Amino acid sequence: MAYNNITAYGRQEPPNCSREESVPVRQRQSHLAEKRGQDASSSCFTRSEQTNVFELTAMRHKNLRRVVQIRRDYDQASDNYDRVRFGTSGGQYVGRKEQEFVASIVKGSRVLEVGTATGRFAVALACQGLEYTGIDLSRMMLQITRGRTNQSVSLLQMDGCQLGFRSYFNYVICVRTFHFLPKPFEALSGMFAALQPSGKCVVTFETDNFLRRLALSLGIGRSEQYYYKISDVEDMFLKSGFTVVQCGSVLRIPVTIYRRCPRLFLPLLKQLERLWPWPVHNYVIGSK
Ligand SMILES: C[S@@+](CC[C@H](N)C(=O)[O-])C[C@H]1O[C@@H](n2cnc3c(N)ncnc32)[C@H](O)[C@@H]1O
Repeated sequence: MAYNNITAYGRQEPPNCSREESVPVRQRQSHLAEKRGQDASSSCFTRSEQTNVFELTAMRHKNLRRVVQIRRDYDQASDNYDRVRFGTSGGQYVGRKEQEFVASIVKGSRVLEVGTATGRFAVALACQGLEYTGIDLSRMMLQITRGRTNQSVSLLQMDGCQLGFRSYFNYVICVRTFHFLPKPFEALSGMFAALQPSGKCVVTFETDNFLRRLALSLGIGRSEQYYYKISDVEDMFLKSGFTVVQCGSVLRIPVTIYRRCPRLFLPLLKQLERLWPWPVHNYVIGSK
């Protein structure tokens, strides 16, 4: 693929690609589409579907950030990012679980990651000999990833809602980033376009569940992002042209509880993981 290892891009527009075009729904056989009685003739999603996440989720939102704020926040957080997330035993456990999750799915040779942060997946996937391309809004995050991967990967500063790739990758992964994207339909259609036929797209996201709604209605937590049910994301996958092949939970207990859990109680928390009724970090996998 013809782009530099370290390029900072605003928006790449691929040949023959108009952002105003709708994406055909190629796979209608999903039980979900049938169950919901989607009209097979409605082969595209509308402009308002592309832009209005609020109609999709009944979830309350608080402190939602604009893209420029997200970029600034992650630029500022980049120095402490790994220490805050993976600096405790609980954080390291979560990190391992998420690495195992990605490793169990990604088997192909060309991988695109949307939202690299400091490059934990870039390092792991490049070590496996895969051809890795990562995009992120934050230049500081990309610089850290570049340092950790010895420039053996391709990195682009790009908005995940404005991807500009065509039929190249075997896998697209978007871990813990999808819930920040203000135009998830456009992001998914860009991921679909980036994949080769039969390529797989793995998206993980923070969930809309009872506990979260209760916390937000009581004014607990800053939120700052979107929350989805699995069915919301499955619908978006279908409307973007994917067949949904798998979905479930990556983690059920909130990551902040893991991070703050004293080492002594970690085994107990791991046991509780199976029983916790409100999963917080779910995933959907789609196939092109
Ligand atoms: C919580 S981190 C997760 C990163 C990584 N996938 C991981 O799991 O370690 C979210 C990352 O997504 C990036 N991000 C947020 N919104 C984005 C957007 N619209 N386009 C590209 N990257 C974005 C942020 O800059 C940040 O680095």
